[in-house]
Amino acid sequence: MENKGDGDFKPPAITEFDGMVLPPFPPLLEDAKKRFEEMRNLECRKDDVILATYPKSGTHWVWEIVCMLLKSKAEYSKETKEFLFLEAIPDISLVDNIPSPRPLNTHVPYRWLPKQHIENGGKIIHVLRNPKDVAVSLYHHLANANELGEDPDFKTFCEYIMDKESGKVMGGWFAYEKEFKQAEANDTCSAIFTVQYESLKKNPIQEIKRLAKYLDVDVKDEVVAVIADKCSFKKLKEANATLKDHSNVSKLHPKVEAEQIALKLYRKGEIGDWKNHFTVAMNEQFDAMFNEEMKDSKIQVLYE
Ligand code: A3P
Repeated sequence: MENKGDGDFKPPAITEFDGMVLPPFPPLLEDAKKRFEEMRNLECRKDDVILATYPKSGTHWVWEIVCMLLKSKAEYSKETKEFLFLEAIPDISLVDNIPSPRPLNTHVPYRWLPKQHIENGGKIIHVLRNPKDVAVSLYHHLANANELGEDPDFKTFCEYIMDKESGKVMGGWFAYEKEFKQAEANDTCSAIFTVQYESLKKNPIQEIKRLAKYLDVDVKDEVVAVIADKCSFKKLKEANATLKDHSNVSKLHPKVEAEQIALKLYRKGEIGDWKNHFTVAMNEQFDAMFNEEMKDSKIQVLYE
């Protein structure tokens, strides 16, 4: 059981908008409605790609793979995904200067994605990760960003996210994923491509080939193999530490050094770390919450 501290716990700072709980990124703190409307009304290009994920689902990983595929080259981007992070960049018009095809990314729910992109039948890549590993990853992310007080323990964090009143943070996962599933089921939204974190981890080459096909890019098997290797956890973590410009990350986490949070984001990159965090009782409680929340949904998550 991997608990961090002795139970001191402070709920994280959040922004609430349209029934969602969001991280307190500066543009959202300033005027969340304005930024959401700017996003929904964003002028899109036919070849834009939107990576849409619930936080901690493997966004950075899939973003890097998508960037390599769009270039048909196994070359790391100098930027981190934060430079095209729609709800967090200081000014949304910054994306106007980015050459096509633009790998945009966001954590906002389906209903707030750029309208024009959906009307264009634009490409949307959605990453689904099992919610127990998302919860563990979120806990470490918030703890590393000094957002949960000193020495927060996972048990208290878990009680917080499972509480019906205060647990909006994780409650957002259920709503987010149900909304995506519904959008996928809708014929007019057939442009959504879902990749499961666990499948990508277990079969990277097969999943990267599926992604390449979806993106209509012609990449040789040898290039796919190098992309899979360069984006494996260890190598991507190393590239992130040595090659990336983290200045865009620093603006999002005012309480810690940019480098610190950017480096810690590549934490374990495994399937099933939840087993090192959840007690049997916590796990049963989580399963009961999952079954209740997802009783009308066909989403199948992979816990191992
Ligand atoms: P852990 O905290 O479980 O390690 P996001 O990019 O959406 O914030 O997600 C972060 C999670 O993705 C972290 O999970 C991180 O370690 C994991 N991750 C990043 N790169 C990865 C890779 N190449 N392979 C597997 N997992 C990766």
